[in-house]
Amino acid sequence: MNLALISLLLTVGAAHAQPGTDQKPLMAEDVFKNVQVLRGIPVNQFMETMGFFSAALGYNCTNCHGDEVLGNWARYADDVPIKRTARRMIQMVNTLNKGEFGGRRAVTCYSCHRGSGSPKVVPSLAEQYGEPPPDDPNEVEIARRAPATPTADDILNRYIQALGGAQRLAALTTFAAKGTAEGFDTYHGKVAMELFAKAPGQRALIVHTQNGDGATICDGRTAWITGPDRPLPVLQLAPGGDLDGARLDAQLAFPGNIRQALTQWRAGFPAATIDDREFQVIQGTAGNSRVKLFFDKESGLLARQVRYENTVVGLVPAQVDYSDYREVAGVKIPFQWVVTWTDGRSTFRFTEVQPNVAVDPAKFSKPAAPAAR
Ligand code: HEC
Ligand code: HEC
Repeated sequence: MNLALISLLLTVGAAHAQPGTDQKPLMAEDVFKNVQVLRGIPVNQFMETMGFFSAALGYNCTNCHGDEVLGNWARYADDVPIKRTARRMIQMVNTLNKGEFGGRRAVTCYSCHRGSGSPKVVPSLAEQYGEPPPDDPNEVEIARRAPATPTADDILNRYIQALGGAQRLAALTTFAAKGTAEGFDTYHGKVAMELFAKAPGQRALIVHTQNGDGATICDGRTAWITGPDRPLPVLQLAPGGDLDGARLDAQLAFPGNIRQALTQWRAGFPAATIDDREFQVIQGTAGNSRVKLFFDKESGLLARQVRYENTVVGLVPAQVDYSDYREVAGVKIPFQWVVTWTDGRSTFRFTEVQPNVAVDPAKFSKPAAPAAR
């Protein structure tokens, strides 16, 4: 391993050694058998780097690791040739960034691969003269001569009004909901889901998959992910993007507090278009993660959240799309949300939401390992 990578990893490791978590988060090499390059990073962030690789090359896990890994986590340790190539590529990228770009992460896997295993070498005339692909709304950036209005505050005020107003929002302090979930974890079938939330920042999402229960739990400070077919039965999220995201999702269940949930608010983005609708975009920061929020220009409601987790190989995007707002206790709640990240997409729908019910505090504490069905 070259020195630049070692020092980069050490810096990241140190940045994550913050006080305030229940346990020291497990590092990749504590859990996995054959980690040679991506050492010294927490397990959840290591898995995010795998997601980054998959997204950058347009690969599934099995394209690099082989079909033997299906249902068998131990086999991910096998050094198959493509995995070895990928390891060399990590080192190449590092050498490039160190040698040519002053250590800045100017080049990532995505710079060359663009969603393919074999980067293109010949410019395409068809692309040059053809219809350009549509803009990715997630890529909007603050305009250089940003207009002074609307400010982030204006947009947030309008959002809070659209939801039912600050007073009604403040009166909603818990809810318990039932519904359905479908996605990669459920083999794209619809399964039952439950969600419990308590203001300002506790949330428990439980998905009853065909193979057992999966859950994402946030107690306001710490968060855990459990589920069948995971590298660890109960994974405590280390400080960093995943934890910032889990905490933000919990806080956004009670958006009356949205101003405090994020810091460093910024406005001045051009309007973004998604499916022919226009959106106002503002940006905030959750922990260390940059978050963009997209508000429907017509209704003022939040339609999308995009956040970027920093990993040693690049920023990993994740997106949540909210829709089907319905009124519960005078407050509009999105009855559907779709989570899209590098490893998959899941759709969640509420069928019933009970406002202001007592929720057992145990629901938000560290979960037990799931029992396989
Ligand atoms: C582009 C190739 C590539 C893709 C795609 C990829 N990986 Fe990896 N994976 C690697 C490399 C390289 C390593 C070894 C890293 C090291 O040595 O530091 C690795 C290591 C691992 C390990 C550690 C195994 C052990 O015990 O040492 C696990 C677990 C893993 N990958 C899971 C996944 C999962 C799950 C996915 C899909 C979401 C995935 N990988 C996608 C290249 C890939
Ligand atoms: C500077 C450009 C560049 C960057 C950056 C880059 N690659 Fe590559 N990669 C290539 C080229 C070119 C090939 C194909 C080589 C060939 O045709 O034999 C390749 C091939 C691969 C392959 C083999 C694909 C296969 O199916 O055989 C893997 C895996 C891979 N890269 C992973 C990565 C990962 C992971 C990263 C980021 C850490 C990365 N690459 C960054 C240029 C790049």
